[in-house]
Amino acid sequence: MVRLHVNVDHVATVRQARRERFPCPVEWALACESAGADGITCHVRKDRRHMQDADLRELRRRIRTLLNLECSLDDEMVALALESGAEAFCLVPETRQEVTTEGGLDVRGERTRLARVIPQLAERGGLVSLFIDADLEQLAAAADSGAPFVELHTGRYANTRGDERQRELERLQRAASFARSRGLRVNAGHGLDYDNVAPIARLEGVEELNIGFAMVARAVFVGVDAAVVQMREAIEAALRPQRSSGATK
Ligand code: PXP
Repeated sequence: MVRLHVNVDHVATVRQARRERFPCPVEWALACESAGADGITCHVRKDRRHMQDADLRELRRRIRTLLNLECSLDDEMVALALESGAEAFCLVPETRQEVTTEGGLDVRGERTRLARVIPQLAERGGLVSLFIDADLEQLAAAADSGAPFVELHTGRYANTRGDERQRELERLQRAASFARSRGLRVNAGHGLDYDNVAPIARLEGVEELNIGFAMVARAVFVGVDAAVVQMREAIEAALRPQRSSGATK
């Protein structure tokens, strides 16, 4: 089964819009767990635009599934990650002006920092993944980096339509097989929603999907439980053996 990890940042974004104490991303995470999420993902950004350090500590204390922390290679953020007690770390690029994480990590360009940070995080018992585009050169560098996982960036797939989306899907399919042939384990995420998740859930060997925005948006109308249950159903339906349609009469 492909695991569903819910990214809780977007709940904190709503709270920070008013500098309020609600809605609380930790309460949201607990509700997602009760509804069947397999893990919780969050990203404390350097500018603290959504998740705060206290949220991270409270998440660690209260959630009962896995905590996956997205983290940039900035020294301050790595130090926070090392103290976080998270079970998994996803290393991501981060720039100040971006609305959300835009591209994948430049694993080749960041070789030196990665060689320092990956063993530090692994020493804390964390499974490290690198958030990267479906680019075979970057994947080859990821395989040499010592990180056990990659998270394939599905943002371009999500943002395109028609033939272009099909090409992006094929790139992701090639990337997933290539990653596995190099001994990497594969997760995926970014921009996934109820309508586009199925082909990504079917990527070869994909273990975990990290999904946030679409689920918060759905929950506004149907509530947290239904938002989680419906996403689980979309993933499970994608993995069911397909019936051939020509078998009548
Ligand atoms: N994975 C990574 C590495 C991300 O940075 C994000 C966005 O925070 C996600 C997954 C989830 O993306 P979305 O909120 O679009 O579902």
